[in-house]
Amino acid sequence: MAHIVTDNCKLCRFTECVEICPVECFHADSEQLYIDPDVCVDCSACIPACPVNAIYEVIDMPDDKTPWIAINVERSRALPVISEKQDPLPTAEEHRAKLGF
Ligand code: F3S
Repeated sequence: MAHIVTDNCKLCRFTECVEICPVECFHADSEQLYIDPDVCVDCSACIPACPVNAIYEVIDMPDDKTPWIAINVERSRALPVISEKQDPLPTAEEHRAKLGF
């Protein structure tokens, strides 16, 4: 089962996940990251690395997050790989607090 980035990444984009990923499965636009399920090796290292719990293994996803499976497939294939950590978005800390983390 692949791993999926969900909406908690939006307005945050901490990119801690990229740094810990042993393969290059993360792709990015200016808002958030997405995982290519064909490249993800299901190691789960990214799950605890994300400060806002944005990443789920598909089998553990809440029902309201399941649309993100198709979004990750579609967006990861349309966007470039991100393989190095970048600065979080300027809104990251404020949004993290709003999310309760
Ligand atoms: Fe997004 Fe969390 Fe990675 S905020 S960029 S999924 S560390």
